[in-house]
Formats: sequence, C-alpha cells, structure tokens
Amino acid sequence: MSDSAWDPNTYPSEIRAEIPGYDLLQDIVVRLSSEARAADILELGTGSGETARRLLEAVPGARLVGIDSSEEMLAAARSLLPPDRVTLHYRRLEDPLPEGPFHLVVSALTVHHLPGDRKADLFKRVAAVLRPGARFVLADVVVPDDPAEAAIPLEVGFDFPSSVGDQLEWLGAAGFQAQVVWNEGDLAVLQGDLVTS
Ligand SMILES: C[S@@+](CC[C@H](N)C(=O)[O-])C[C@H]1O[C@@H](n2cnc3c(N)ncnc32)[C@H](O)[C@@H]1O
Repeated sequence: MSDSAWDPNTYPSEIRAEIPGYDLLQDIVVRLSSEARAADILELGTGSGETARRLLEAVPGARLVGIDSSEEMLAAARSLLPPDRVTLHYRRLEDPLPEGPFHLVVSALTVHHLPGDRKADLFKRVAAVLRPGARFVLADVVVPDDPAEAAIPLEVGFDFPSSVGDQLEWLGAAGFQAQVVWNEGDLAVLQGDLVTS
C-alpha cells in the first residue's frame, strides 16, 4: 500500500485495485463484530470511515470511537458517519488508546503499519481497554506461509505485515483466546476473545 493512498477521494478505487478482497474482508469484519453485540466500539485506523459505516449499520444503537493518523481521512469519515454515534480522534496506534472500557475493538488494514514488537505491545494495550470477555477483530495484510501468495503491493518502511502465527502468539500473550477466522493468501481476519480469569 502506498502512503499516497490516504487521499479520501481516490482511496475507495485504489484500495480495491490493490486489494481485490477488500469488500469480502469488510463483510467478515462486520459479521464477527455484529456477533459481539457491542454497544461501545473502538476502531483503530478508521480512515475514511468505510469499516465504521458498515459496523454502525449492522449494529444499531452502537457508538464508535475511532482513531487515525490522517487528518484528511478523518475529515472524510466525519462527513460520512452519524455525528451522534461517532467520536473521532487524530491519534496514532502507538499513542495511548482512548479510555475504555469497550465491548469491541476492531481494526481493518491498519495494524500492519506497525513492526512486530509494536503490534505485540498494541495487543496488550487493546486488552487493557476491553471489558472482560470482550472481542478484538483484526483484519489485515499478513505474510503468507507461501511467499508466492503475496499479491498485495507493499512499500518498504511503510508496511510491516507479520505472519498469522506470530500475531496469534502475540494475541495469546496479551490474554486473548485467538483464532484465525479467515485467511486467503496475504489477507487474514483474526478474532481474539479476552479470557476472563
Ligand atoms: C487502508 S486504511 C483502512 C481504513 C478503513 N479501516 C478501511 O478498511 O477502509 C489504513 C488507515 O490507517 C491509518 N494509519 C496508518 N498508520 C497508522 C498509525 N500508525 N496510527 C493510526 N492510524 C494509522 C491511515 O491513516 C489510514 O487511514
């Protein structure tokens, strides 16, 4: 994915050209998120608001807090999403997360911008803002087991995908019971349910 991708005017067509499975990925995210029947959702990397729009449609009554490090994308999200149900913050994943507790944390196509050690750290911080037993849905570009299946264009120093195996391990270390819900080539959707002690 290229840095210039964060132009909300060109984003919808560019992302689908780079990731033909984009809409399928969003559908899976929304299905897993709806199952959680969450009232309070935190989204990491709201972008232009496409994932959030679908989530709010599927979960009536839910409220969403979103963070993103692009003002341009957030401005597009603000114009798309219902203001009475959404709070958006200009914030990086590496910064402290909005205070919870949330019923659900969800992220699509964003966490791969962090190197592995920062993903592991983020997963612990996600666990800390979730209610006991709550869910983390993580949909992203991954390093496929078979290098020949790597189809999504990546930019050195900007995209840092990790393997599904590594991410399951880091989710487990953060306290999640984690599983792969869907994995096709270099795209995957992982689900982590917070283990209650
Ligand atoms: C591919 S878009 C995904 C947006 C939306 N979730 C979707 O699926 O259409 C990735 C978003 O992640 C944001 N992003 C990238 N690195 C980030 C970081 N370190 N912290 C917060 N947001 C970041 C970008 O600004 C961009 O809006």
